[in-house]
Amino acid sequence: MDRRTFLKATCASAVLAGTGVSWAQAGLRPLPVLPMTDLMSGIDGRIMLDMRPGLHDFGNGTKSATLGINNNYLGPLLRAKQGQTLPFDVKNGIGDTTTLHWHGLHIPGDVDGGPHQEIEPGSTWSPDVPIVQHASMNWFHSHMHGKTAEQTYKGLAGVLLIEDDASLSADLPKTYGVDDFTLVLQDKMFKPSGEMDYFLTGEVFEEGFVGDTLVVNGAIAPVGQSVPTGLVRLRLLNACNARFLRLSMASGPITVIASDGGFLKAPVETESLLMSPGERYEILVDMKAVETNSLVVGFEVEAEGFFAFVTEFFGESVQELTALTLTRTADKGFDGAVPKTLANLSAPDPSAAKKTRSFTLNMGNGEELAALAANWGNVCGSGGMAINGQPMKMDRIDERVQKGDTEIWRISVDDMLHPFHIHGCSFRILSEHGAEPPAYAQGWKDMVHVENGWSEVLVKFDYDAPEHAPYMYHCHILEHEDCGMMGQFTVA
Ligand code: C2O
Ligand code: CU
Ligand code: CU
Repeated sequence: MDRRTFLKATCASAVLAGTGVSWAQAGLRPLPVLPMTDLMSGIDGRIMLDMRPGLHDFGNGTKSATLGINNNYLGPLLRAKQGQTLPFDVKNGIGDTTTLHWHGLHIPGDVDGGPHQEIEPGSTWSPDVPIVQHASMNWFHSHMHGKTAEQTYKGLAGVLLIEDDASLSADLPKTYGVDDFTLVLQDKMFKPSGEMDYFLTGEVFEEGFVGDTLVVNGAIAPVGQSVPTGLVRLRLLNACNARFLRLSMASGPITVIASDGGFLKAPVETESLLMSPGERYEILVDMKAVETNSLVVGFEVEAEGFFAFVTEFFGESVQELTALTLTRTADKGFDGAVPKTLANLSAPDPSAAKKTRSFTLNMGNGEELAALAANWGNVCGSGGMAINGQPMKMDRIDERVQKGDTEIWRISVDDMLHPFHIHGCSFRILSEHGAEPPAYAQGWKDMVHVENGWSEVLVKFDYDAPEHAPYMYHCHILEHEDCGMMGQFTVA
């Protein structure tokens, strides 16, 4: 166990107890249950997604200027079934150019919603999105090059759940809002006035925008929810711009059943789960065993005064925040036990790879980034960050992939931890920082952590992404992505 892990695991919260850090948690608010649009029950005409400005109270009594999709803040929870085609009308009412990307979907490049599918203010983008993949938790968010970070932070994000025959008949809790909840985890910064804050500086570009307040489904944590006695399923999305979240339960281990691209082979029990921005995991909480249990989030903090000295000594510190407290009622809920097996998942076979591609993520230098931040506005893709020495350029294709080929992609970086994402696919992680990935990350993924040493994924691309609608690969620290840590590839 290295110093960092040790600190996180043991003394961190003790070190910070009583430091008076500014984001002390208030009382328990009710968990906002995201409004669901259930497309499984049939689609009438086109599905309207209305991107618009809104006013939203995160729970501090102040209305913040936000963006939302059919809502003041965030989008609806969409639920669809494998085999459906979703005819969306995505209307841009935010007063600025935007796009809407379907993160995690196995779809062709021209409906992917990446930076090339711009939606001008006042106009509507109407992709027909085929749902071919298995049950999985996906999401959608702005991918406007140069503005992804700000637009997503302000609220242009939502969750798309895919079910299939197997998931619908699986012996798992699935009554939405009763024993099955979707949690969008974010960190926010608030001004002294109580309004949500966002700003860019050289340092923000370097570290990514990190807030000091944990927010769950748009409400400042901790939030609470009562549930019937039985198993409860939580579908989690880390929708932070830049913050990795270390998740654990107040009582007992975490039982993980699914990752980005679908069910694991079998449930995995783990003391903690490190979730990068963009990642999704599903977990089960046994509310037969305990009367109350909480999802706890390890939040790295920057301390002040004496504790700044302590954190300097230890490198960093972590405060444990309660995200959600579940309290059981007398009602009988989902009665089953944690299943023994979940999906048919064979071990990845690297010998199937026809090609290996290597990517090194490059951080820009401080001065360059400070200059970029100062000029930020409509500066888009002018670089600072890069991959293989090249900052993202809209009119340059970086890689060309043969459709149907299996490949190994190796990603490395010279400094901090980055979350790497590839569009249009799910992959399997072969190694993470040169080691075997944790058991919960051994199923279908579209995000991989990259720190020191190579991270390798085994990936296959089955859909077309032509020159005019290439796929992206990028760091999912959104400020890094906006600043050029992104590349484009075609599949043909
Ligand atoms: Cu979630 Cu290219 O993004
Ligand atoms: Cu994506
Ligand atoms: Cu990065």
